[in-house]
Parts: sequence; C-alpha cells; structure tokens
Amino acid sequence: DWNSGNVIAEQVEKIRAQVGSARVIAGLSGGVDSAVAAAIVHEAVGDQLVCVFVDHGLLRQDERRQVEVDYVAATGIRLVTIDAREQFLTALAGVSDPETKRKIIGREFIRSFEQAERDLIAEADADGEPIRFLVQGTLYPDVVESGGGSGTANIKSHHNVGGLPEDLQFELVEPLRALFKDEVRAIGRELGLPEEIVGRQPFPGPGLGIRIVGEVTEARLELLRHADAIVRAELSAAGLDGEIWQCPVVLLADVRSVGVQGDGRTYGHPIVLRPVSSEDAMTADWTRLPYDVLARISNRITNEVADVNRVVLDVTSKPPGTIEWE
Ligand code: XMP
Repeated sequence: DWNSGNVIAEQVEKIRAQVGSARVIAGLSGGVDSAVAAAIVHEAVGDQLVCVFVDHGLLRQDERRQVEVDYVAATGIRLVTIDAREQFLTALAGVSDPETKRKIIGREFIRSFEQAERDLIAEADADGEPIRFLVQGTLYPDVVESGGGSGTANIKSHHNVGGLPEDLQFELVEPLRALFKDEVRAIGRELGLPEEIVGRQPFPGPGLGIRIVGEVTEARLELLRHADAIVRAELSAAGLDGEIWQCPVVLLADVRSVGVQGDGRTYGHPIVLRPVSSEDAMTADWTRLPYDVLARISNRITNEVADVNRVVLDVTSKPPGTIEWE
C-alpha cells in the first residue's frame, strides 16, 4: 500500500541510477510540484543539484522569501535567484491586452531562465562535471492529459513557471510522474517542506500580471499584493483553505468609482474576489463564502489598501466565466 516514505526511497534510488555523477538543474516556481520534485532530487544527489528561481516581480507577498529562506532552510538546496523584476516591468509597459501580456511573460521567463542556465553551464564546465539533466515536476494527470489530445480550443495561452522550455540538450528527471497532487503534498510534508509551499493553492505562472485588468505597473502590483495578502490571511484565519480551490483577487485598474471616506470623496479602484470550488479547474462554481468573512475582507481592504474604495464578489461559475479574469 501507498506510503510516502517508500515512494521517496524508490525515487531516490532511481534518480541516482539515472544521473550518476552528472549535475542537475531545476526551476522553482514557488509552487508545490517543482518544490517537491527538486527536494526528492536533492535527497538523491545532494549538491549535484542547483535550483533556479526567477523573480518576475509578479509574485505574491512573501513568496520569494518562502522559497529563498524557508525552502532553502528546510532542504539545504543550492539556489540561484534571478531578479528579473525590472526586465518584466519594462517588457510589460503599456500593455493591457491579456494574451499579449501572457505571451510577453512567457517569453521573458524563458529568456531569463536560459540566461541563468548558460551561466551555470559555463560555471560547471569550468570545474568538471557537466549539467546534463533537468528536473520537471510533471504529475500523472499532466502525463495523461498531454497524451489524451482532448481537442479543446486554446482559450488562454497557459504558461508554466514550474515547467521550463523543453531544451533538448537536457535529459529530463521526473520523479512525480506517477503521482497525484495529494500524494505530492504528502511527500512534501514527509520531506519537511514549508507548509506555505506544500499546501499552496493553484497560482498561475504569469502571476499577478494577469490579475491586473489593465496595464501592469509597480504601484498596481504593490496594491494588489497587499489586497491579496489580506484575502489569504482572512480565509486561512476562518479555516476556509480546504473549502476553496483558489481565490484569485483581481484589480480593475482601469475602472474608478466614487466613494466616501471620513468626510471626503474618494475616487478609487474596485477589487474583485473570485473564490471558486472545483475538482480540476476545468469547471468551477463560485464558493458561497460566509457573509461575515466577506465583510471582514471588504472592511480590511477598503481601510488598509490605498486607492481601493470598493470590493465586489464574482458570482459566475466556469463556464461561462474562466477562473482567472485574463
Ligand atoms: P482558467 O482561468 O483558465 O484557469 O479557468 C484554470 C486554472 O489554471 C490556472 N492558470 C494557469 N496556471 N499557468 C499556470 O500554471 C497559466 O498560464 C495559467 N493560467 C491560468 C488558474 O489559476 C486556474 O487554477
């Protein structure tokens, strides 16, 4: 019967046999799949593994710290962080169209990862063992899906920060290929990974960039990061993490409405809450959150986040709405 300790031991042996003394590279996204895949590989080959984390500036509050500090402390993994915040903001300047944003983010992501890759390869070549392997956090449902060819139209160009360009100069190491998400979480806990990473709800690769309806700017990211942190904190405090699949928080940056605060008129932006319940993200229903939790979130956001004077609730199922707004 299934036991996370056995799966780890089995994979460790397999990875050692596959990799030998060569070096291995892994990309981290802050999500559970890439984090667990890299941690298993690290169990197997130690410092032959180096991880790359691209900070595209579209992360949520605390996510970089969770990877750079908590994850590294828990695993002892060697991590290189690429600070690409300026690069992404510059590339996104003036862009409001959702698909254009997605394509720019995907392109810049590959660009910065490949740069890091070249630097690391050069460094490895200088002192002996080459980098020959790339870790991917592919899960069983991903394997089934890509073999299935369901023929659905391309609704959004998805981009996976955990899954990197399939650069054929590398052989893939995929320790999670036989596993489902809940099994991956169990293994992550067994390996002592931080709960913020292991229990994290789905978060899109393009990050907050596709949760700002309108142009992405640093000020808007700051504002959305703050509102999103409040929502996550209040949902967790209410014990609702297990009930919802995920809760995108969206900034309508091009919309303003009139409000009143103290004895003054305000003219600020709305924040949209998009809590959904789902099995697989293919379909979803809006989650009936308790009114008192919604009230607390609304009060906190309008009081604490400058330039936001209204909080609205998205009550659309999927279909016809998608989970993300862009
Ligand atoms: P939609 O908006 O299509 O989202 O209903 C379905 C699920 O996918 C997530 N999502 C993404 N995940 N890269 C990802 O890794 C992406 O580009 C991306 N776009 C959406 C979304 O958060 C939801 O869980």
